[in-house]
Amino acid sequence: MTDAIDPTRSLGALVRDNLAYAAVFESVGLDYCCGGDTTLEAACEAEGIDLDDLRERLAGVEEAPDGDDWETHAELIADIVSTHHQYLREELPSLEGLVRKVARVHDENHPELRELRSEYLALAEEMKRHIDEEETDLFPIVETLDRGESLTDAQRATLGNEIAELEADHAETANRLERLAALTDGYAVPDDACASYEAMLERLERLETGTHRHVHKENNVLFAEVERQLPASA
Ligand SMILES: [Fe+2]
Ligand SMILES: [Fe+2]
Repeated sequence: MTDAIDPTRSLGALVRDNLAYAAVFESVGLDYCCGGDTTLEAACEAEGIDLDDLRERLAGVEEAPDGDDWETHAELIADIVSTHHQYLREELPSLEGLVRKVARVHDENHPELRELRSEYLALAEEMKRHIDEEETDLFPIVETLDRGESLTDAQRATLGNEIAELEADHAETANRLERLAALTDGYAVPDDACASYEAMLERLERLETGTHRHVHKENNVLFAEVERQLPASA
């Protein structure tokens, strides 16, 4: 059964096969979205994880019912926008209010909350700009390509540049999320936390997990496929 999990495949490719693997990688701290090109064996070695144990766990995971079953890039884009971008547009401002409140009330006992607040505010600002940029500058060009229409030279240049810039944003976002996780000791609830504090930690953790899924769909599926397709349509 374990033989089914090829250790020379990349983390991103494995999650493309079965979205349920994402939760397993998440649980052992393997980055399958921005670090999606790393092979399973290399990632395990780098993180000191037992490869055979992990392959066994993966082999026991059932296929996710909502796997990557998009027929077209337009469908994948619609899923990214309705599932992830819409969630961020609602969640980022609402969570900002909570982060500000918790930092204000608890920063004396938890001075790390001041840094958490400024990291969060920077992250939220960047993410809002980033998703607007994807929807305005990148997705329409991908949809044009999807309809089988040829691209102008300007569109082709924009596409390549945008993908590079957006991937760099993803890496920056991943760093900020890592920083938030470190500042909260992996979102651990302190003994003196009130209900708001606990809710903030839970929502920050959900933001991290959701962002990993979101970035996976872009870096490892959409961007990777568009880049593969690009020379052929030149
Ligand atoms: Fe996005
Ligand atoms: Fe993105």
